[in-house]
Amino acid sequence: MATMTIEALNHYYGQSHTLRDVAFDIAPAACTCLMGRNGVGKTTLAKCLMGLEHPRSGSILFNGTSIEKLPAESRAPNQIAYVPQGRQIFPLLSVEENIRTGFFSSAAKSKKIPSNIYELFPVLADMKRRRGGDLSGGQQQQLAIARALVIDPKLLILDEPTEGIQPSLVQEISDVINMLNQELKIAVLLIEQKLPIIHKVADSFVIMDRGSVAIKGSMDLLNDELINQYLIV
Ligand SMILES: Nc1ncnc2c1ncn2[C@@H]1O[C@H](COP(=O)(O)OP(=O)(O)O)[C@@H](O)[C@H]1O
Ligand SMILES: [Mg+2]
Repeated sequence: MATMTIEALNHYYGQSHTLRDVAFDIAPAACTCLMGRNGVGKTTLAKCLMGLEHPRSGSILFNGTSIEKLPAESRAPNQIAYVPQGRQIFPLLSVEENIRTGFFSSAAKSKKIPSNIYELFPVLADMKRRRGGDLSGGQQQQLAIARALVIDPKLLILDEPTEGIQPSLVQEISDVINMLNQELKIAVLLIEQKLPIIHKVADSFVIMDRGSVAIKGSMDLLNDELINQYLIV
């Protein structure tokens, strides 16, 4: 069974029809890559999955249960985690305090930071007491992922994690995504436009164009023609 099944999802901002019958599956313990040019509706879709935007129609099944009517605060206890576009870490809080904010909507009794978080991101262990705002872009991205992982998610949504970070850190983020899939068995929905990371981590892809799914499939279907048509500006 898919970790998440999105069916016939429609969303509007006022009169503007932003998502049009969007449908696809997110497989367990694998990386599904959502692609498409700026403005096609990728972030809006992520917000609908998190309950931060409300679709007008359609359904979102998480492990077989319909969640589209649940408020946002009920989705983290359902083990769906989200790293928003632009990361949105707290610059004045320490690294450790930033990670703790991940417990905010968690139903978990223990609010202790799991030790594997610092094993995954040793640089954060070294910088626990530093302010979030003092970290580099790549370190802030690792912090945003660490914060999302404290709720022990079954699905992690990453919205353009490589935006504004050095190419040398793309490999580190790819390694983290592969490890989340393979070792922690977390499903990842990766919103991404950069092909090098997509090829390193994705098992399947969904390309959106003007609010609709243009094409989806396994990675062997992704060819230069599709990339030129839907991705390269
Ligand atoms: N809060 C909002 N109110 C109105 N329109 C919005 C809002 N957020 C995004 N949009 C519009 O919705 C469309 C999809 O935006 P978005 O989901 O951010 O696309 P993407 O993430 O693919 O770049 C764009 O035309 C954008 O301008
Ligand atoms: Mg976006």
